[in-house]
Amino acid sequence: MKEMYKLKYHLEPVFGWMNDPNGLVEKDGKYHIYYQYSYEPEGGLKYWKQFTTEDFLHYQDEGIALSPDHPHDQGGAYSGCCFNDHGLLRYFYTGNVKLPGDYDYINAGREHNVMIVDSQDGLVLDHKEVVLYNKDYPQNMSCHVRDPFVYKNDGMYYMVLGARTLDSHGCVILYSSKDLKKWDYMKTVDYHKPFGYMWECPNYLSFEKKKFLFCCPQGLESHNYDYEAIYQNGYFPLTTDLEKDCVLEDFIEFDHGFDIYAQQFFKDEKGRMIMAGWMGLPDIDYTNPTVEEGRQHAFTLFREITEHEGRLYQFPIEEYKSLREEKKEVQGTSLTMNTSCFECHITDLPQSFKLHLRGVNMNYEDGLLTIDMNKSGSGRGVKHIKIPKMNNMTLFSDTSSLELFINDGAYAFTTRIYNNSDTIEIISNKEIDMTAYQLKAIDLE
Ligand code: FRU
Repeated sequence: MKEMYKLKYHLEPVFGWMNDPNGLVEKDGKYHIYYQYSYEPEGGLKYWKQFTTEDFLHYQDEGIALSPDHPHDQGGAYSGCCFNDHGLLRYFYTGNVKLPGDYDYINAGREHNVMIVDSQDGLVLDHKEVVLYNKDYPQNMSCHVRDPFVYKNDGMYYMVLGARTLDSHGCVILYSSKDLKKWDYMKTVDYHKPFGYMWECPNYLSFEKKKFLFCCPQGLESHNYDYEAIYQNGYFPLTTDLEKDCVLEDFIEFDHGFDIYAQQFFKDEKGRMIMAGWMGLPDIDYTNPTVEEGRQHAFTLFREITEHEGRLYQFPIEEYKSLREEKKEVQGTSLTMNTSCFECHITDLPQSFKLHLRGVNMNYEDGLLTIDMNKSGSGRGVKHIKIPKMNNMTLFSDTSSLELFINDGAYAFTTRIYNNSDTIEIISNKEIDMTAYQLKAIDLE
């Protein structure tokens, strides 16, 4: 089979469908990377499949980690997290059950149970138990309550779940526990005004100076260049710890691209906050020609997350520097790479410019970056990012993906791109400084 679009340094399944990153954890120097997987390239029954790595350069495909083989997850082993409980890995995920019958599946006919499963080594996950049944959720919740995220603070465990109320308001619900088995409902946390109908994949991020609730809201209206995707991803800065009397400050979009959703964050053994996202989006009306190659969707690059002045910054982890090969430096208006796999750092950007690569047109003026995917997007159109002042931009280009990090990662844009050639020219209408490196492939066994 032709493999025109196979990514070189991003994770994707050999065949089948991938969506959310799940259960990301490092144990004893080994990173365990699970993800939502389906055998059919256009999606189907969900499993957890797994990669492992020690360096983000060499990976093992560990196969299926969790199957939907329990009466309370038979409709799919949906998304969840891993909590490292003094060396015992404890996974919390959503057991999806679709009841037979004629339902709209919003307010009835579906169970979303919270399941726990343990592992000593991250490879054998066994002994499934239900810790919360659908009926345990507050009365005003629809049956869409899912994607548990577990954390610990001051000796107590907390679980955040994404939810949709019966009258279609997005929120999270919070539970507490002393032993990770018996969970007590604490409260519902929402924005002070309606903010979409469902919040998926919540993560709680605790930095020394600031705490954040990350989630993926569905049902926001696009307005003034905000919320241009079908579903959003972003975070609410919090006034204090989530379990305390906290208030959600205004939502900040995290990645403005066409293919980004369900990011998951975890702290590694070095203490870095690392994130990976699903380089894809549900319910989109544009296509992915990779389906013809038997697979669909991928992971973003792994990115390190930092906090500055109440905002989150993201940038590919430093391990990727080991993929660098030939270097090119240009001060001028054009740089040619003899591969589609490269990174390019552009500094000292003027406050208005045009940039063109791989059929994509970028235009920055009056504090607005417009990205037009043109024919390279295979149905993806135009998006905007409001950036008051432009300083620098880093591009990571792979055979069929493009990730932009602007102003040291204060803004990001992730997309699939279907315009691949052996020579890629980056053209600017103004003189700029470009430093680029050809990138070699990761190793996957
Ligand atoms: C987000 C999501 C989750 C769910 C999973 C199912 O993409 O819809 O809410 O757990 O995917 O695959």
